[in-house]
Amino acid sequence: MENNGQPRQSELHEIIDKEILNNGGEWASDPNCEGATGMTMFDLPNSQDNLISVLLPMNKIKDIGAHSIVEIRSRSTANGGDGKIYRGIVVAGPFHDPDGIRADAPILISTTINGAIFLPNFHGRVLVELLGELNEDAIMPPRFRPLPNSPVFVLDKEETANVLNVQGNVSLGQAIGHDSIDVCIPADKKVVLPRHTGILGTTGGGKSTTVSGLIDQFQKEGIATILIDTEGEYTHMDKATEAGNMKKLLSKRGIDPHGIENIKVYYPFGRETRADESTPSSEFNLKFSNLSPYAAADILGLTEAQFSRFIKIYDAAKLILRDLGIYPTRQQQNEVLDYDEFESGYPHITLSLLIDIAGLVLEKISVGFEWHVHNNFIRQGKQAIAKRIEVVAKGTDSETSWKALLGKLGQLNRTKMFDRQDDADIPYTELVKAGTVSIFDLSDSDSTLVNNIVIANLLRGVQQVQEAAYEDAIAKSKSPTPVVIIIEEAHEFLSKERINKMSNLFEQVARIARRGRKRWLGLMFVTQLPQHLPDEVLGLINSFVLHKINDATVVSRLKRSIGGVEESLWNKLPNLAQGQAIVSTPSLTRPLLVAMHPTPCKLLMVD
Ligand SMILES: Nc1ncnc2c1ncn2[C@@H]1O[C@H](COP(=O)(O)OP(=O)(O)OP(=O)(O)O)[C@@H](O)[C@H]1O
Ligand SMILES: [Mg+2]
Repeated sequence: MENNGQPRQSELHEIIDKEILNNGGEWASDPNCEGATGMTMFDLPNSQDNLISVLLPMNKIKDIGAHSIVEIRSRSTANGGDGKIYRGIVVAGPFHDPDGIRADAPILISTTINGAIFLPNFHGRVLVELLGELNEDAIMPPRFRPLPNSPVFVLDKEETANVLNVQGNVSLGQAIGHDSIDVCIPADKKVVLPRHTGILGTTGGGKSTTVSGLIDQFQKEGIATILIDTEGEYTHMDKATEAGNMKKLLSKRGIDPHGIENIKVYYPFGRETRADESTPSSEFNLKFSNLSPYAAADILGLTEAQFSRFIKIYDAAKLILRDLGIYPTRQQQNEVLDYDEFESGYPHITLSLLIDIAGLVLEKISVGFEWHVHNNFIRQGKQAIAKRIEVVAKGTDSETSWKALLGKLGQLNRTKMFDRQDDADIPYTELVKAGTVSIFDLSDSDSTLVNNIVIANLLRGVQQVQEAAYEDAIAKSKSPTPVVIIIEEAHEFLSKERINKMSNLFEQVARIARRGRKRWLGLMFVTQLPQHLPDEVLGLINSFVLHKINDATVVSRLKRSIGGVEESLWNKLPNLAQGQAIVSTPSLTRPLLVAMHPTPCKLLMVD
């Protein structure tokens, strides 16, 4: 038995076998781990909720990249685990760590700087953010963490697209960091567009390219698009792009350059348009009576004294219209009861009527001043309305405020935007027809005042007809036509400095935004100066396409308004190439970095 005090070979085997048996039998590779790219690691004191370190053998590092979507199968219950399955996304790495030695070990540093080759074996490491726990096909917010030493698998293209939820009928571009995954939005569902969109980025970032490409697809999907084009750069969208780089990019994606169909350009009465003669176009004019007196006062920037006088003449105008038998007629009595002065203007009130009334009041209170009446019916009815003028004039003696008000109304009148021709009012019902693209070319207006009045009018007018069209479609069990209004240079309309002074106008926009969600009216704000957009406006927006933004203060403000974008994506924002964007929408599982599609149609240069 004894062999120099050592066990014999057969005895040795017996002892080892016993040891193996005591420890649970022969080791077998866990079938759950087969084909795994990596394994989860233990946590460290600086580990964060929702973030997991995953280690990869050297030969698997190439299989996983930034933004890869992975499945983590926590160890099975048989192996003392909980058997939960998690989905996650790589948010940092892949990093390379040497095996068995620290990366900053002196020997590694000194050999490297001296040009000698000392390359220990190494492994890969990625940081995975948990997207959720898989619970019968649905992904739920995770309550636990995958256990250490759980296998990690990279999902294939199709599964990845499913997890990211990039499906939809309108394609934005290709996800960067994935192999040809198209990022789409469901433009036929209420989840994205009617919850409003912001397309933001510095000049030259790619906003107009994105916008025009979207309009092309909206048109094909039967959406009615209305675009406020302050520079006229979209007025040639009915033609194919001529830009060499766009053509090259398009051919890579198998798309032929083409113009957008069913385009009509509208431009202010008496102004120029940048559209070609071959492009369908028509002049338009606004009805002052479409504009809420409060919104009008905001846009005019009336002082308190001017505002109270403005409301007085507005009220007097209503009475005068009634006195002279113009409005309401007997049949229209009920209409008047429904009138909401915060929503729209009073029927038949024109800017020139208000100017006449203000002029007559001034005539009343200032000695030697004579007002030349513009409107025939006022001239003829001067006696009949004298008492109305007297009531307004009574108790006001400040000529200055009246003159100032008259000056501002006169300034607005000189824009010639109002009440010019009966047949030139914006044909709102045409604008909300399926597949129409209406471009409002304001390039010749030279005036933010005019642009803002047009936008306020359009928003209000379109909302009104869309509500009716929506109700009508529902009543007939038809699917309503989606409508999108795109506002270029949105910061000029809703700027931070002005919003405090324009609370009525903003309230109106906010109301339209809220109601638009239910009645399929989406607003899209485009701006190169997001710093001028107030938080209130950002608060209305649920989807963002963020092209390059290099102003750090703007980025930190956007961070507060847009949730779910991880730090590593924010860090990329200042360095994005032209056409790249961070896209965050309610339909996507998480915000993605996207190479936006090139545009098939022609854009004009802005000088
Ligand atoms: N999706 C894209 N793919 C490739 N290149 C693009 C893309 N979008 C834009 N570009 C390039 O960037 C240029 C500027 O794009 P675009 O006019 O759309 O920017 P913008 O943000 O609208 O600028 P601005 O603020 O001056 O109006 C284009 O002429 C084109 O060369
Ligand atoms: Mg542009």
